[in-house]
Amino acid sequence: MIRSAIEAMHNAYCPYSNFKVGASALLKDGTIVVGTNIENASYGLSMCAERACLYNVYSKGYRKNDIISFCVAAKKIVTPCGACRQVMIELMNPDTLVVLTDSLGHSKEYQVKDLLPDSFKLEV
Ligand code: THU
Repeated sequence: MIRSAIEAMHNAYCPYSNFKVGASALLKDGTIVVGTNIENASYGLSMCAERACLYNVYSKGYRKNDIISFCVAAKKIVTPCGACRQVMIELMNPDTLVVLTDSLGHSKEYQVKDLLPDSFKLEV
């Protein structure tokens, strides 16, 4: 999973920031789904790697209970932005492992719930 996030990082489209981020999700059936940051000249349309990855997971029909763990890779360890944390708390289980790694494999570990305590949820 960590290797896949680092590999995905190299596919980032980030001509404005030049800051490549990769994300990967390890699923219960052994599949690994990745995402990268994709920027746009209209900056606000840019997408972070974490959300690209999770939207890709859901687009393939998987849901939160299928996700064993999640990884974010960049040249230095980055913690997900607020928007990604809100998406992560909705699309993953609160106790799912999140590994934040740099390109050398140094890492920090969290659970999804550590990244956004007291989060907004609509009970639907
Ligand atoms: N970025 C991510 O993809 N994930 C993060 O956790 C932090 C920031 C992206 C957004 C933008 O394309 C670039 O990194 C610089 O902020």
